[in-house]
Formats: sequence, structure tokens, C-alpha cells
Amino acid sequence: MLLKIKRGWELKESQATPENVYLDRRRLLKMAVAGPVLLAGGGLLTACDDAPAQATQLAAGEAAAMPDPSAKLYPVQRNMRYRLDRDLTAEKDATSYNNYYEFGSSKNIWQKAQALPIRPWVVSIAGMVEKPMEIGIDDLLAKMPLEERLYRHRCVEAWSMAVPWSGFALKALVDFARPLGAAKYLKMESFENPEVAGGQKASWYPWPYVEGLTIAEATNDLAFMATGIYSKAMPKQNGAPLRLAVPWKYGFKSIKGIVRFEFTDRRPVSFWQEIQAAEYGFWANVNPKVPHPRWSQASERVLGGNERVPTLPFNGYGEFVAGLYTGMENEKLYM
Ligand code: MTE
Repeated sequence: MLLKIKRGWELKESQATPENVYLDRRRLLKMAVAGPVLLAGGGLLTACDDAPAQATQLAAGEAAAMPDPSAKLYPVQRNMRYRLDRDLTAEKDATSYNNYYEFGSSKNIWQKAQALPIRPWVVSIAGMVEKPMEIGIDDLLAKMPLEERLYRHRCVEAWSMAVPWSGFALKALVDFARPLGAAKYLKMESFENPEVAGGQKASWYPWPYVEGLTIAEATNDLAFMATGIYSKAMPKQNGAPLRLAVPWKYGFKSIKGIVRFEFTDRRPVSFWQEIQAAEYGFWANVNPKVPHPRWSQASERVLGGNERVPTLPFNGYGEFVAGLYTGMENEKLYM
């Protein structure tokens, strides 16, 4: 069976791999970049292996069923600075059409994501900071200035939505972390828990999911840590309890289920960049004039229907962020 590894999220769930197919991740990644991949034994390359519950999942199941203690924090006051040029996406669409590879490659992962325990949830602040620390999510939420923002979201796959996130400016977390002057980047990592996140059993993906921003991007007004949506605590499928929202960048930058923030002077290599660097880069700023190597980025399908609208430079947020990139013409800013 031939399988060409293009972009991870193109793989269909029907391409599920038999559990016995093992392939070393690094070897596979090398082959993927080289082109079509023939798997030994005729096995299919999978995006995820959703093996049924193990005994160890029972305890995790109990934890996953616990009510979210942050529910009482919402709704929070809307910040009117952030306005939309379009209708909000229906809640049922934004919460049932998701990309979350930890739970599989289909868009229909919301039920599988309920298996993730989100308490206790400890966030590490590490690397080039005055004092590395670990903090529980509820303690962190108590320290952060919560607000609501209406943001567009543009996936690299050319679909989009517009949603009310609740959360806090990422700058507030950066200030709280007290990075050293030499730190240039903020690297973020998602949880790793293959017992409940079946997609993480696919060892050829470079888990955990990693993303990064420059410190200038992370402290830009628009960079937001989302902890809720539609005036409620964040559903697990949308990245509870902590996910990024950087609406001027393609959606894959908006990492979900974050457990670690590391300040560093080395540019992080993000999850999709490690898989396919020729198609997914560090910057990933939205630009309708720069096509993906295999499809146009000129327009986008609005979630909830088949309407297509033109895509805007920086997803319409140029006034906030275009200045971040002056003098960087040699960088691949739009992939
Ligand atoms: N974060 C993690 N940890 N794992 C993922 O697979 N997918 C990304 C991003 N964050 C992803 C992730 C992609 S490709 C998109 S488009 C958005 O999450 C989707 O967010 P949504 O499901 O809330 O619309």
C-alpha cells in the first residue's frame, strides 16, 4: 500500500493502522520528506490508533469525569477592542469540528477528547526565567486578568471560524514568568498521555505537540491564552484547560492542552515543521497571496456552511501585527 505523507491532517481516519505495525518515527519522517512511502508488510500508515480502554484508563476515566472547577469563572467581561467583520460561528460547529491529533486525525474527535483528565493540571514555566516554577491551572487562572475576545481563526486547510474566546493576554503570563533578557522565544508544549489520547500511540508523530513564538509575538496585544469559549470553560476538544489563540497565524500555531512554557534563545521546531518542513514553517502568518505548496490560500470556507470568503493578509489583523515583521524579508513568513 502506498501512502504519500503530505500534511498530517489530510490523513483519513479510515487509514487506521493495525496495532502490530511498528515503524520508527525518525525513519518514517525521513522517508516522508523523500516522497511516497511503502510500508513493509502492506500496513497502512496511520494518523492514530484508537485502541480501546486499558485497565489503567479506569482511574483516568474517573479523573476525566470530574466537573471543571473553573466553570464558575465564566462569563467574563468582553474586551470591545477586538471586533469581528462576520457572524460568530455556531457553538455546535466550533465544538464538534476540531483538529486535535492527540485524539485522532478526523475532525470528529470531540467524544474521544472527553477522556482527557484536566485536573490536576500542572503548568511548568521553565528555561531562561528568573525562577523556574510549576503552577496548578486554577492558581494560574486566579492570577490572570480574564476577559473575552471575539477572534477569527483561519486553519491552514482553508476553513475558518469566528469565536468568543475567554482567557488572558499571553503577555500577562510572560510578565508573570519573568524571562531573562537573553530569552528570544517562547516554546510551548502540549500534554503527553497516550493512555487516554490514542493518537499519541502513533509513534511516528513527534509528540508532544510543540509550538513557538518570538517574545515580541508572545507579548503582542493580540496573542491570547484561551481558557474558555462561548462564555464557558473550554471544552476538551478545543484545548482545555489552556490553549493559544494567535489569530494572525494559521491555526496549527494555536497549540492546545498546554503543560509547559519554556523561554529559550533557540528557535523552537514546531510539531508540523518537524513532520514536513517544506510545507509548514515557524512563522505561518496568514497570507492569501502565498499559496500552500499544494493548494490556494486565497479564500476560506466559513465553518457551518459552504460559503467561501476572501482570506485577508494576517487574517485581517495587520494593524496589530504587521510591524512585527519589518526587515524580515529573508524569512519564510507565510508558511
Ligand atoms: N494543538 C494540539 N495540541 N494538537 C493539534 O492537533 N491542531 C491545531 C491547533 N492546535 C492541534 C493543536 C490545528 S491544525 C488547528 S486548525 C487548531 O488547533 C484547531 O482548533 P479548534 O479545534 O479549536 O478549531
